[in-house]
Amino acid sequence: MFVGRERELALLQQAADGAKSAFVPIYGRRRVGKTELIRRFLAEHSGLYFVGKAAPAGLQLRDFMRAAARATGEPLLAELAVDGWERALDAVTDRWPGPGKLIIALDEFQWTAQASPELPSVLQALCDQRWKPSRKVLLILCGSYVGFMEREVLGNKSPLFGRRTGQIQMSPLGYRDAAELRPLVGRGPGARLFRFGRSPRRSLDRSRRVQVGPSALAGAGPGRAGAQTHAVPEPQKRDPEPAAFVRREPARARAPEHVTLHSLDDPYQ
Ligand SMILES: Nc1ncnc2c1ncn2[C@@H]1O[C@H](COP(=O)(O)OP(=O)(O)OP(=O)(O)O)[C@@H](O)[C@H]1O
Ligand SMILES: [Mg+2]
Repeated sequence: MFVGRERELALLQQAADGAKSAFVPIYGRRRVGKTELIRRFLAEHSGLYFVGKAAPAGLQLRDFMRAAARATGEPLLAELAVDGWERALDAVTDRWPGPGKLIIALDEFQWTAQASPELPSVLQALCDQRWKPSRKVLLILCGSYVGFMEREVLGNKSPLFGRRTGQIQMSPLGYRDAAELRPLVGRGPGARLFRFGRSPRRSLDRSRRVQVGPSALAGAGPGRAGAQTHAVPEPQKRDPEPAAFVRREPARARAPEHVTLHSLDDPYQ
């Protein structure tokens, strides 16, 4: 089940529909939903999806050519020996039958670029010299390491600087969208939190009851300097799931009730 992300999908749709070639970097921290967004988009558009790996360049190129063969419907592409990314990318764009733009999505781009440090420059040259005049490519570069993406893709020292036509910095799903992923949370005040997006603090303070949520997807509340984090006690027996909220209290002394913060547990924060 896919929820939300209407704004991000609309931006990608615009890039696909536009008259010119487009380049959209997607970045954001781990498990925020970058890959899911790309997959959702590609479920309704033909394109080439490739995931970078911590593997030598030759292996990645072979994988890429297999993905190219699937995307273009030309099985022979999988066997084509290419000596680098420029040849590989040219091969697939040359054979793109259309209609519409060829969407090339390179996920986990940091791994591919690590094995092939020339790749950002190759993409720059292709953007400028081939894809700009041909107007038929939408390039999506996606990476989990925000620092890497800012430096190597978005930053002014990157060969790709100034080429992007849009960008998507993924934020965690809002409470309402996250709630859609848990339609069975149906009892008690905590359930109202997910149904109607009420403040977790108010719901929990009133009820002392723990409900579960898609913790990695929803934004956690702010932490506090010197704060200690510990899980809220186990949910009552009839709740089958583990707790996804944490309670934060000052490390020192006994915390008066009003300084306790509740937030969604977020292991990737
Ligand atoms: N919009 C969404 N609707 C439903 N499920 C989602 C959505 N976004 C993400 N998920 C789910 O959340 C989990 C993490 O998403 P995803 O793998 O896309 O994150 P990511 O940002 O690519 O993570 P990583 O940086 O580790 O690659 C997956 O199980 C995915 O199915
Ligand atoms: Mg991913």
